[in-house]
Amino acid sequence: MKQYIKYNPWKIIEKGFTPSYNQISESIFSLGNGKGGQRANFEENYSGQTLQGSYVAGVYYPDKTRVGWWKNGYPEYFAKVLNAPTWIGIKTKIEGKELDLNQCKVIDFERILDMKQGFLQRNFIAEFDDGKQIKVQSTRFMSLKRDEIGAIRYSITPLNFSASGEFILDIDADIANQDSNYDEKFWIEIEKSTSTDFTFITTATKKTHFQVCTAMDYSILQAGKTHILSSLQKIETEKYVAHKFNLELKENIETVIYKYAAITSSMYEAVENLSKMASALLDEAKHDGFEKLLEEQRLEWAKKWKESDIVIEGDVAAQQGIRYNIFQLNQTYSGKDERLNIGPKGFTGEKYGGSTYWDTEAFCLPFYLSTADQKIARNLLVYRHNHLQKAIENAQKLGFNQGAALYPMVTMDGDECHNEWEITFEEIHRNGAIAYAIYNYVKYTADKKYLATHGLEVLIAISRFWAQRVNFSEEKQQYVMLGVTGPNEYENNINNNWYTNTLAKWTLQYTMEATDYVKNNHPEAFQSITKKTNFDKANEFAKWSEIAKNMYFPENTEKGIFLQQDGFLDKEQLTVADLQASDRPLNQNWSWDRILRSIFIKQADVLQGLYFFEEDYDIKTIRQNYEYYEARTVHESSLSSCVHSILAAKLNKQKEAYEFYLNAARLDLDDYNNDTEDGLHITSMGGTWMNIVQGFGGMRIKENHLSFQPFIPEEWEKYSFQIRYRENLLLIDVRKNNVKISNQSGKSVTIEIFNQKYKLDAFKAIVVEMQPIEILA
Ligand code: BGC
Repeated sequence: MKQYIKYNPWKIIEKGFTPSYNQISESIFSLGNGKGGQRANFEENYSGQTLQGSYVAGVYYPDKTRVGWWKNGYPEYFAKVLNAPTWIGIKTKIEGKELDLNQCKVIDFERILDMKQGFLQRNFIAEFDDGKQIKVQSTRFMSLKRDEIGAIRYSITPLNFSASGEFILDIDADIANQDSNYDEKFWIEIEKSTSTDFTFITTATKKTHFQVCTAMDYSILQAGKTHILSSLQKIETEKYVAHKFNLELKENIETVIYKYAAITSSMYEAVENLSKMASALLDEAKHDGFEKLLEEQRLEWAKKWKESDIVIEGDVAAQQGIRYNIFQLNQTYSGKDERLNIGPKGFTGEKYGGSTYWDTEAFCLPFYLSTADQKIARNLLVYRHNHLQKAIENAQKLGFNQGAALYPMVTMDGDECHNEWEITFEEIHRNGAIAYAIYNYVKYTADKKYLATHGLEVLIAISRFWAQRVNFSEEKQQYVMLGVTGPNEYENNINNNWYTNTLAKWTLQYTMEATDYVKNNHPEAFQSITKKTNFDKANEFAKWSEIAKNMYFPENTEKGIFLQQDGFLDKEQLTVADLQASDRPLNQNWSWDRILRSIFIKQADVLQGLYFFEEDYDIKTIRQNYEYYEARTVHESSLSSCVHSILAAKLNKQKEAYEFYLNAARLDLDDYNNDTEDGLHITSMGGTWMNIVQGFGGMRIKENHLSFQPFIPEEWEKYSFQIRYRENLLLIDVRKNNVKISNQSGKSVTIEIFNQKYKLDAFKAIVVEMQPIEILA
């Protein structure tokens, strides 16, 4: 854990330059606009430790798999989130000496991410070994409104000298992925130009043949006046274009370079138009100028914040944490394109290859459901619908048939990209999360029609998978599921993971319910689904009901707990309290063998099931399981704390709930798990939002209305959040003594607060006294 980020409600601030933290800060201060992203690398050359990272949405490379022992059924490739050509370069030399913060003395360094307005700022004074000092201030952003445009304002002022400065403004497309399996570079050059009118480079990915055009233009201001260059050197080398020029720098006179970049990709434009389009966008951006673009950025972010902000008073660490999470989620996914999804690292690092895990359905969907237009959450579901055929083929490859689908553990475009057998073949609970997300979306939006147009097909295919994945145990006279890995990846190849069995049973039941709904309300759609999927309702229902009725669930009635898997109690019954500080994190200190045999749990597993299906269990069962499993969970996945926090809140363990929240919300800002340098934990940020809204706010959907059961952590004066629910927009404001809910829309709404229903007229508010949360014994 590191605590070098300064507390501030709207800004992320680093003061002073610590080279050993540079890669962490490069992740933390990342920028993105849904169509791409950029780590907080320096504009100037930096010879110290750095992870260069520029990313273009949807553009990936299928790197050849590298495994020790090939298993039939493995995918052919492992997709890589591609490190793309970088557009930020502004390289400076003063009298032949490179401005390199690894070589110069760095004074008054600060990096500021302004979350309210959506830009990154960096200020410092660099001192060369001859004592010359220059002051640099850079501001950059990736435009939300013009989502192919990035812009930089780079200001240089010599503080104690006048001299000639040499500048190189470049686009470097000779980029490698650090995680490349065979040290191969994935980009090839297609076309480039360094003409003064238009400097660009178009590159293509090998194998996938995506094309990306990265173009730049710039203008210069000296002492507040436009400076026209009298001479210029154009540099073109392989996969590299640049303009090199000299400027006379005068003591205490500011020189500003405005650099604009346009990044167009074949995801959105025909390859023959890419450079033309980049050129037009760039001209427009330069014509409008940096200040106008920045003003647009402020307005766009103001809109985002209006919909999704959470305000916390009295606890600036908590406030900064949640805003940071919301900011990063909005930078990663705009929901405009159903082909895109939310990668665990978003646009902030390479790790995890591929963009989509079960994280999206289980941890991110609720945030987008409540803070943005319904279409945005729907697009996340449609993404999976579009991949249904590939999920069916994936299951076929493993020996399943008749339209059974196994969605990939990790994917870019529907193909499985993961190749560790204990996860690829066994961590099949992901299929259940996809079914659960359909249920969650329909329950939240009441858009039942989605079942007819998309959802049911997916549900049928997933149910067919479960029906084939279980087998009947003669000994138990029940259905069992063997050889699986649950969410707790510190256990592999186990039998009867309670969570997976629970999801399987639930999916079968929900699919039957959804089928009946579609059959009765959308008979034509039902006909066409039946035909398309060869659905034999009578026989398949009979089988599914039989399995659902006779599914086996491991439990221990004496302890009153569900067992994470068969034989869980045979393990040495230690708790986290038995571990030494030097053991943690286990995954960095213990052998994998020791981890697998131990009782220690990576992340919520049984508890994940109790979180999803809380209505099916009484509070005593939830408490017993929570207490047993929490004591054994090491939370070495970022997806863990939020689930524990929500359950702790439900059990009125408010202090515990708050501590988990703080850990989850500041996971990256404080580098809790020592891995922020690889990139941010974007998907767990959705979990942090759930933490406040569902955990502290106690928000649930009951029948057809929203219900709240809030509490306020001791440390907080008040907190408030906004929720879009169907046609209503609600502001929930929780204070020490009361909760106020305002209906900010022109339509009345029924809500429930502390188990009491209220009708809230349009633009009216209600204030209810806080009540202790009722906990049954
Ligand atoms: C977790 C998985 C998760 C993945 C990507 C792993 O560490 O165990 O549950 O899907 O990270 O976030």
